[in-house]
Amino acid sequence: AVAGLRDSYGRVATDLRVSLTDRCNLRCDYCMPAEGMDWMPSPQVLSDDEIIRLIGLAVQQLGVRELRFTGGEPLLRKGLERIIGATTALRTVDGEVPQTSLTTNALGLQRRAEGLVRAGLRRINVSLDAVDRATFASVTRRDRLPDVLAGIHAAAAAGLRPIKINAVLLRGVNDHQAGDLLAWALRHGYELRFIEQMPLGPPRAWQRGDMVTAAEVLDRLSERFTLRTRDPAERGSAPAQRWTVEPSHGAPGGTVGIIASVSEPFCAACDRTRLTADGQIRNCLFAAGETDLRGMLRGGASNEELAEVWRVAMWGKAAGHGIDDPSFLPPARTMSAIGG
Ligand code: GTP
Ligand code: 5AD
Ligand code: SF4
Repeated sequence: AVAGLRDSYGRVATDLRVSLTDRCNLRCDYCMPAEGMDWMPSPQVLSDDEIIRLIGLAVQQLGVRELRFTGGEPLLRKGLERIIGATTALRTVDGEVPQTSLTTNALGLQRRAEGLVRAGLRRINVSLDAVDRATFASVTRRDRLPDVLAGIHAAAAAGLRPIKINAVLLRGVNDHQAGDLLAWALRHGYELRFIEQMPLGPPRAWQRGDMVTAAEVLDRLSERFTLRTRDPAERGSAPAQRWTVEPSHGAPGGTVGIIASVSEPFCAACDRTRLTADGQIRNCLFAAGETDLRGMLRGGASNEELAEVWRVAMWGKAAGHGIDDPSFLPPARTMSAIGG
């Protein structure tokens, strides 16, 4: 038996989310200020080989079975294909190929989708907050919708399945796009999920009372689509609750999900651990503190030493994010630096 990544509440982390860079080529309003951020100085960013070593450790010694590469924008990392290739060459403690996925804005995917599949990538989740060009530009501050759509379709053509689409709705900015986003996703066979905005962006970007809630999204979708609830047993540790969408007006049916991180936290079922681009372990998206592996790694620590520090870091994971506690404070870094 592996001494895996357990916490004091009995959860076991088997899903590692690796942030490959804090940089991004979009400037989504809920994520970054228009001028961008102070990027991590490159000496602090882990090299491809350092990342590959830590992934190997997580998979071979700590029981990690699934890897998700995030950013910032992970396609901005030149070594992405190599990192994915090295990951899929590993075997988990159960002798399986680790499952790999990518959370991306799809810019540049048109050129890289096939190579990523060859490297062993299994699936992708794409952030897309509008299917109307002007609305897309107003959320992301960049007029890149056609490139994003081309990237998504190229991923589908390269065989990546399922393709999940993540949409964060902002009141008065893109909330009117909810129905059109779903119609578009159903037409292409992509799985759309609406995500409640979390307090992880620039200061003052989030107000509890102003957040578009899961309940509101459901009401809005129900005006145009017929949604059927599904067996709650199928959800597992997935953050999204899913509904079946009935075919209507000649449009195909499918599914839609809602990730209600704020109004219905799923922390009790959480199976995640995180590695930031600068080599810090976070036991939770909202963790107040981080555990430095980069210093140890560069100081010549053994795999056993690194594994033990990672285990200790996970043991201290909080029960939940506590967004509604009066004492809640958002993490010191924003989501683009933590990893989505
Ligand atoms: P799937 O395995 O494809 O379902 O991945 P996912 O939904 O976990 O990953 P993705 O990167 O697409 O994340 C979608 C959204 O889920 C993010 O925007 C977050 O809002 C939310 N999310 C991801 N990880 C966490 C987490 O650890 N905690 C919380 N509260 N929300 C998370
Ligand atoms: N709240 C919820 N989701 C967010 N994302 C980025 N910032 C936030 C936030 N504050 C989403 C992105 C991407 C995913 C990784 O996280 O849209 O799809
Ligand atoms: Fe897991 Fe923390 Fe996210 Fe809750 S907020 S689901 S505990 S990472």
